[in-house]
Amino acid sequence: MAKKVLGISFGRKMSNCDIMVKHALMECEKAGCETAFIRADDLDITNCNGCISCVIGMITGRGRGYCVRHDDFDILDECVMQSDGLILACPTYETSVTGRFKTICDRIGPSHDITFRKAAYEEGKAAGKPEEKLPDVRSFKKRSAALISVGGAMTENWIALTLPMMYEFTFPWGIDVIDAVEYYGAMAHESVLGYPEMMDRMTKVGQNLVSSLNAETEEERLKWRGDEEGVCPVCHTRLLQVSHDAKSVDCVVCGSHGELTLVDGKIRVTFSKEEQDRSRLRWAGKLEHSTEIKTQAQPTGTIKNLKELKAPYAAFDRPPFEKDPSANGNLQK
Ligand SMILES: Cc1cc2nc3c(=O)[nH]c(=O)nc-3n(C[C@H](O)[C@H](O)[C@H](O)COP(=O)(O)O)c2cc1C
Repeated sequence: MAKKVLGISFGRKMSNCDIMVKHALMECEKAGCETAFIRADDLDITNCNGCISCVIGMITGRGRGYCVRHDDFDILDECVMQSDGLILACPTYETSVTGRFKTICDRIGPSHDITFRKAAYEEGKAAGKPEEKLPDVRSFKKRSAALISVGGAMTENWIALTLPMMYEFTFPWGIDVIDAVEYYGAMAHESVLGYPEMMDRMTKVGQNLVSSLNAETEEERLKWRGDEEGVCPVCHTRLLQVSHDAKSVDCVVCGSHGELTLVDGKIRVTFSKEEQDRSRLRWAGKLEHSTEIKTQAQPTGTIKNLKELKAPYAAFDRPPFEKDPSANGNLQK
């Protein structure tokens, strides 16, 4: 059966992200894949309201891991469930992903975490529940992805957070990223179509994804196909956070601790095998998190006098500041 590749662009209609994703999808089609293309801004997807009933449902066995809201997120969800591979491209807004990208990541969020889903699936199965009452079994399919970040700025550090943030889309459902491209300086071209080297790289993105999808071994499927190894051996990004005691660093994407040394004037960061496996991109890292939530999160009703404690805050209600007529602001009324 033909492999299915889903492309999602978070950019403007027929601008850089759209074209880059479509070009890579065309390459996948040449290799016999079936493709689908979604432009995120065409979908009407509301923000997560933080009710966490998606997770509570899975923990208690009452839910399948879905949002109580039904909107166009369900279209995206079904497409991901059917896909074997994904190609995502996101513009950089304010050095990071767009608001809609984040909205979608929050809707994916814990509800699609495969460790929550797997436990709910297995416990439900053991209790004799029918498939339609359990998390979608397609959640556990192995998938590969390529990530593309795009920024208009000529300086690379203006897109620094975009690619790392894009892993928020892939890690909950355990989608393995096998290639990534950071395209900055997009405004130096009217369109990426005027930058043949980048279009060639998109051809390569399509080819790389196909080679991952057709791999005969798991090692070959997961092989990193990006241009640079990066610093973290798991996510291949270069975004590190210094620990409070300033003795080690954490990979911000993975959450793994690394040891930082200087060798011949060059920074070297070493992540032990154990720490690599603790990455939230891997099963053990995700399981560590879902277990801490399951075992340590306090249920409603733990604080007996909570209503009383909240009362002064509920009564504290202040409106926004009135318009300042002496200033030249933008408030219309
Ligand atoms: C609100 C806003 C903020 C932006 N901030 C950045 C930025 O921080 N860094 C950057 O490189 N480009 C920034 N850009 C430029 C976009 O990344 C650029 O236009 C990109 O090509 C958009 O992708 P698209 O062409 O696929 O729509 C910003 C654009 C907008 C609209």
